[in-house]
Amino acid sequence: MNQQPYDFSNATDADIGPLIHAIGSLGKDLVGLELGVFTGTSLLTVLHACPNIKTMHGIDNYKPYGDCIGDPYNGVPFYFVDEKVSVFNRFMAFHRIKYSGMEEKVVFHEMDSGEALKKFEPESLDFIFIDTYLTYEQVVDDVRSWYPIVKSGGLFAGHDWHTTIVRKGVTEVRDEVEPDAVITGYDECWSWVKK
Ligand SMILES: C[S@@+](CC[C@H](N)C(=O)[O-])C[C@H]1O[C@@H](n2cnc3c(N)ncnc32)[C@H](O)[C@@H]1O
Repeated sequence: MNQQPYDFSNATDADIGPLIHAIGSLGKDLVGLELGVFTGTSLLTVLHACPNIKTMHGIDNYKPYGDCIGDPYNGVPFYFVDEKVSVFNRFMAFHRIKYSGMEEKVVFHEMDSGEALKKFEPESLDFIFIDTYLTYEQVVDDVRSWYPIVKSGGLFAGHDWHTTIVRKGVTEVRDEVEPDAVITGYDECWSWVKK
């Protein structure tokens, strides 16, 4: 039987969507990373739409969680993923990757963000898309700790720019690590090119 792989090349619901053309213009043989894979929609969309990606790292711990990122921000979770949903999300991501035709390009790290960070050398990735943060503290921690891993000239980016707390956390870290950098914010995503 001639089995067709999944095709995410034109997915309209991928959180990473607004960054696709920027990633596609970054050069050849890119090595990128998504922090917070969930069901795999963004990971596979960027892989299908950007043939210039050689390797795509994905990180997710697939633990139950409560998400506080939204307006107004009060540090109280309002969106919950319980254990059965986490197990389903994990299954969905691995299933989609397996039948995407892109499996050989994916390196999956099923672990916490802080644990995965130890596996990467500074200035080793062409782009990073951060979509793990669930609290203000996690925004600051993830953005601050992953910034050194992006190469000079690479794209440092993430999701949830439409929320006050992500704008605040990302801007604070930018002011600390690269005050001259100009953040682009559009359609729920933020990014800047690392000097
Ligand atoms: C909003 S979802 C990501 C959505 C995904 N980027 C997409 O485009 O469909 C957040 C994901 O981050 C993961 N996550 C949250 N905190 C994490 C942490 N500290 N380490 C690893 N993964 C984490 C959750 O398990 C969840 O799957």
